Amino acid sequence: MAKNRPKFVTLEGMAILKAVRGTRDLLPPETELWNQVEATARAVFARYGFGEIRTPVFEATELFARGVGEETDIVSKEMYTWEDRGRADSDKGQSLTLRPESTAGVVRAYIEHKMGDAGMLQKLFYIGPQFRRERPQRGRYRQFWQIGAEVLGPAWSGADSPLRDAEVLEMLATFLNELGVKGWRLALNSVGSSTDRPRYVAALREALAPVKHLMCEDNQRRAETNPLRVLDSKDPKDQEIINGLPKIADYLDEDSREHFAQVKAALDACGVPYVVEPRLVRGLDYYTRTTFEFTVPDGSGLGTQNALLGGGRYDGLSEMLGGPKAPGIGFAIGEDRLILTLQAQEGETAAKKLDAFIAPIGVAVNPAALALAQELRREGLSVEVGDGSFRLKKSFDAADKLAKRMVILGEDEIASGILKVKDFSTGEQIQVTRAELANALRC
Ligand code: HAM
Repeated sequence: MAKNRPKFVTLEGMAILKAVRGTRDLLPPETELWNQVEATARAVFARYGFGEIRTPVFEATELFARGVGEETDIVSKEMYTWEDRGRADSDKGQSLTLRPESTAGVVRAYIEHKMGDAGMLQKLFYIGPQFRRERPQRGRYRQFWQIGAEVLGPAWSGADSPLRDAEVLEMLATFLNELGVKGWRLALNSVGSSTDRPRYVAALREALAPVKHLMCEDNQRRAETNPLRVLDSKDPKDQEIINGLPKIADYLDEDSREHFAQVKAALDACGVPYVVEPRLVRGLDYYTRTTFEFTVPDGSGLGTQNALLGGGRYDGLSEMLGGPKAPGIGFAIGEDRLILTLQAQEGETAAKKLDAFIAPIGVAVNPAALALAQELRREGLSVEVGDGSFRLKKSFDAADKLAKRMVILGEDEIASGILKVKDFSTGEQIQVTRAELANALRC
């Protein structure tokens, strides 16, 4: 990302346009790290049998209202929603929304394409931008990227097995370790099944009734409409009351308790460390049973936004969207936050140098220089070409910045077929034939 953005200036009376607040341009060489992270995700997820799904970046607003929940911050405050006009007067308009997350869209696609009909477990991953109208700060953007995955299927596919929860968590631990993320912490909880929830919500309502008037306006409203959301309120003044509220663990039925115990046992068997956090309910309404978050220690480049990723089980989501029963579990990694963490923990990585810079001597040599670059690129080398109008000093400086070696190409070199290659790491200059050139640049 460009660090020192120019101040707002006008040029000949024209305002200079900048990226919209909360959005940003990702530029080389930083994008190399993004690609590396995404390549690692693809490689790791493939080992666990995941295939890629790409869903649209906008969906019907109703999908998020029904899936994520009307009372969540995401749906009530943060969505980019617009009324899409019909093209003809007779066409009805439709309310559309830029996706604030991808789980609802993936489950919509699962239902629409009858992906559960074959009875197989579906293991799907995605990488793409999401949109939330949040207050921008370090690690929090209005367009941000997620790398996510979902495992779902009919109950007889084993989609509701605690083994799936543990497998997803173990995969995440493997992914973060392969990237070299240091000090990650997995916080785990169970928010119970659809039958545990109403009992817990009733208990919360009862506990909130005598104290809610002391809480912030948002929490007063949530205490009425969706008391679970009070638990993930960040309002510092309300934390004391929140700490005294009943805990979901005391309201889990036998099945949910057993499910959670088996998730933990499988994690123990795989050696994945975790901490049980009874108040982790997460900010989306579709969660049932297992919920989790991975955080990184202070000083990892995220400021106050230390949640690297989050996820959980959503056994009733498909039915909430009008589909068949299809229990599932998934996660989404904040890719922007993952990159910030890697940069803070490893230091900025220098741009990777190209294999060669071709310096044509004189504009008449430009066509031959381009043809040589074409041949070397076909042989798999990364190559930049200068311009015959450059003085040798200018070519030299550009080459030194961009490449490991410089190839000098003048009329003499073309006539003799012997090329001069300057190696910037040793300072040596050697002469090679055209046939030897690719190998000389490769070593
Ligand atoms: P979420 O917790 O809303 O979950 O988002 C997951 C991650 O996305 C967060 O932990 C954070 O790293 C990143 N994130 C969220 N908002 C922003 C933002 N404004 N700027 C930068 N990063 C952000 C979900 O989205 C669920 N769909 C996860 C899931 C998948 N659950 C089951 N399957």
